[in-house]
Amino acid sequence: MPVPIPSSQDQEPSLFPEIPRSQIDAARLSSWYHLFRRLTFPTSIIDLDKLGEKEAFLEWLDSDSIFLPPVADNEDASSSSSSSDSRQRRASDASSSSSGSEAPVYRLPKLTEAILQAIKVHGGFVFPKLNWTSPRDAAFIIPQTRGPLCCSVPADIYLLLKSSDLIQHDLDSSRAYSTSHSEAEVDSDDEEATAAAEARAKDMKVELVLRSFVEMNPSRELRCFVRHNMLLGISQRDTNYYDHLQSADSRETICDTVRAFWEDEIRTRYQGGEDYVFDIYLSSDMNSSFLVDFNPYRQSTDPLLFTYPDLLEILQTALRPPPAAPSAYARDLTRQRLPILRVIDSQSHPLSNSAAPAFGSNMMPVEMVEMSQGRNMAEFSQAWNDAVARGMQR
Ligand SMILES: Nc1ncnc2c1ncn2[C@@H]1O[C@H](COP(=O)(O)OP(=O)(O)O)[C@@H](O)[C@H]1O
Ligand SMILES: [Mg+2]
Repeated sequence: MPVPIPSSQDQEPSLFPEIPRSQIDAARLSSWYHLFRRLTFPTSIIDLDKLGEKEAFLEWLDSDSIFLPPVADNEDASSSSSSSDSRQRRASDASSSSSGSEAPVYRLPKLTEAILQAIKVHGGFVFPKLNWTSPRDAAFIIPQTRGPLCCSVPADIYLLLKSSDLIQHDLDSSRAYSTSHSEAEVDSDDEEATAAAEARAKDMKVELVLRSFVEMNPSRELRCFVRHNMLLGISQRDTNYYDHLQSADSRETICDTVRAFWEDEIRTRYQGGEDYVFDIYLSSDMNSSFLVDFNPYRQSTDPLLFTYPDLLEILQTALRPPPAAPSAYARDLTRQRLPILRVIDSQSHPLSNSAAPAFGSNMMPVEMVEMSQGRNMAEFSQAWNDAVARGMQR
């Protein structure tokens, strides 16, 4: 395929493009969902401001408390597993807490109601995100009934949001809107910076996004990189080795499917400029795709099996005038064929999953760390559940 003509070739490209705030906003699920509704998973978007509970939500999230907001007494509990029931009960029990309690109780009745409605609409199981991001760094904290981050009761969602560092990132406007140039300036360990971040969160739109939970085969998840309105690269998203991604035929099918999907559905419809990253999920025959997410083209978006310098090199090569060649046919042969697909191509690939676990360095609530000392997983889980239940009943 000939390389498409980019619309802005006047300057030598830099490692990262300048990304205005409007482009970061375009990657918010609430910005793109209505444009791509038929190509992606059904989703409910709950605007905390419209509910009138944004401040209470942020206060609860910022507080040291590990207690979850109570579930309304008149709630119509959706179908849930027994472990979900007990989480639900623990959350409900909190509504009776009051006198003598040192820990403040945060009440979010409208949000809880909206979550219950959404869970019902989406068939009992949802995948949660905040403005841009899912709490995937905290997935370990709830049982993985149908897969990571599968939530069937409001308590699941509250627990995930409360335990996730990534969610905090979404609520700090200086980090959420940072580009690679400013990212280094933010020091998340600094107390002053944390206080400033809390203040900045108050200016931000806060949306809880609940998507129909889909049991995905990780081998069919791909991340795609677009710069200067050119589809440069496609990376396997899960970093395990998969036999069925190795043959030349499979690779060609993947490239053809993604290229067609991008050209037909995304290129002219996406509102986030000419530089962005999108995630897709391939059908089992690899001939069609679902859209999973958009992400800004910046350092905090994981380049997976590429590096950003690799992607820059691919872009530079694509922009370079073709070398003099005796014929148009020969010129085409010397051009690189885009997109470039990268998959884990051997069990010993350096990025293969045998390396350190994702989010291994993320912080857990301090209470969890203390409580885990000297206990095995089952004992720790029991101790944690007891402590949460005790806290709810205070
Ligand atoms: N609707 C869903 N149901 C189940 N799992 C999902 C769903 N959406 C995403 N996932 C899983 O969660 C991962 C992260 O999803 P994504 O929307 O890209 O969140 P983030 O922007 O936080 O990375 C995906 O790679 C996929 O495995
Ligand atoms: Mg994303």
